[in-house]
Amino acid sequence: MSQPAKHSGHPDLAPRMDGIEPFHVMALLGEARELERQGRDIIHLEVGEPDFDTPQPIIEAGIAALQQGDIHYTSSLGLASLREAIAGYYQERFEVAIPASRVVVTPGASGALLLIIGILIGRNDAVMLADPGYPCNQNFVRFVDGQIQSVAVDERTGYQLTADLIEQHWRENTKAVLIASPANPTGTMVSADEMARISERVKARGGYLIVDEIYQGLVYDTEAATALQCAEDNQHLIIINSFSKYFQMTGWRLGWCIVPEHLLEACDHLAQNLFLAAPTTAQRAALAAFEPQTIEILEQRRRIFQQRRDFLYPHLLELGFKIPVKPQGAFYFYCDCSALTDNSMQFAHDLLYQSGVAITPGLDFGTNQPERYVRLAYTRDIPALQQAVERMAGFLADRRTG
Ligand SMILES: Cc1ncc(COP(=O)(O)O)c(C=O)c1O
Repeated sequence: MSQPAKHSGHPDLAPRMDGIEPFHVMALLGEARELERQGRDIIHLEVGEPDFDTPQPIIEAGIAALQQGDIHYTSSLGLASLREAIAGYYQERFEVAIPASRVVVTPGASGALLLIIGILIGRNDAVMLADPGYPCNQNFVRFVDGQIQSVAVDERTGYQLTADLIEQHWRENTKAVLIASPANPTGTMVSADEMARISERVKARGGYLIVDEIYQGLVYDTEAATALQCAEDNQHLIIINSFSKYFQMTGWRLGWCIVPEHLLEACDHLAQNLFLAAPTTAQRAALAAFEPQTIEILEQRRRIFQQRRDFLYPHLLELGFKIPVKPQGAFYFYCDCSALTDNSMQFAHDLLYQSGVAITPGLDFGTNQPERYVRLAYTRDIPALQQAVERMAGFLADRRTG
């Protein structure tokens, strides 16, 4: 199968580009699109974004902003009314009091991650991350010439870093620990107790704890939570969040972070230089995101995601995938496919070509046994998932007999 080119290898490129790989799933997606052009029907389970449109109240608020000509730059930290609305959301939903001044609005969680890594991480500073994990995190660290301290995690810790693992792997130059809960690609969460232990440990070591809560709200067996509820003081805690997933605004490119007071000025200065401000129309539109009628739509969709998860889970087990930790959130299954193949990349490729089901190979999430895992996203409706299950069953039966 065709491998994605790393980059052109042109001598003019900066050395950091050597480590920056494209998403392998993009190559697969390109192949899927080509098959679709040839008339094949492809079921896309590789897509890491909600299949729902942005809720109508948000769209209407965006249209109104455009019609009012509201298209000028906002402050680099974000629209004051949106920062207040975000702070109000934390108070109302999570019962944590955050001054609006600590909320920084960014172009997606991506913008927030780049900003935070940018203000904190110097050449010799290391960021501790779980492997498997969201692949871009390593590249944000690479981008600032920081050190990546990747820790292999497995089902024993729910594919998450723990306070003990952090302690065990802490190095002199560890400056920050980055955790996602719920996580991509595993959908697993860090419990409130463990988050409190992690927070204490990182604080005692003098580091920063960065918690990516982009899938907050998309949780199924438990209440949505924030690490802010677990940390006594928040001087070492940075929260990353986004309007992309729960609020279903991926293409609007809007997120936020919550930072301690002493980092605000640096955020302001770097945000001014990196992106000036997050998109104004998106910020105006997002003012409608916390309205009760919008939350009602989002909660209804959350229940649909839960139905999909609960539909797919037993089927995947029946097909022979192992899912040692049932995901509590996000919209992913990170499946151990070692009983079916010893090469998840080839498996994903064959499944696409032979049966028209697109999934993501483990290689996109790190170097910790990637050949053993694939990620399936339930960002399709139940009839499509049902069809995907049938196609996978046929594919696996053919492999057994063929
Ligand atoms: C864990 C995690 N963090 C951050 C992002 C970036 O999201 P965005 O920039 O759309 O907010 C993603 C996107 O899939 C993600 O899965």
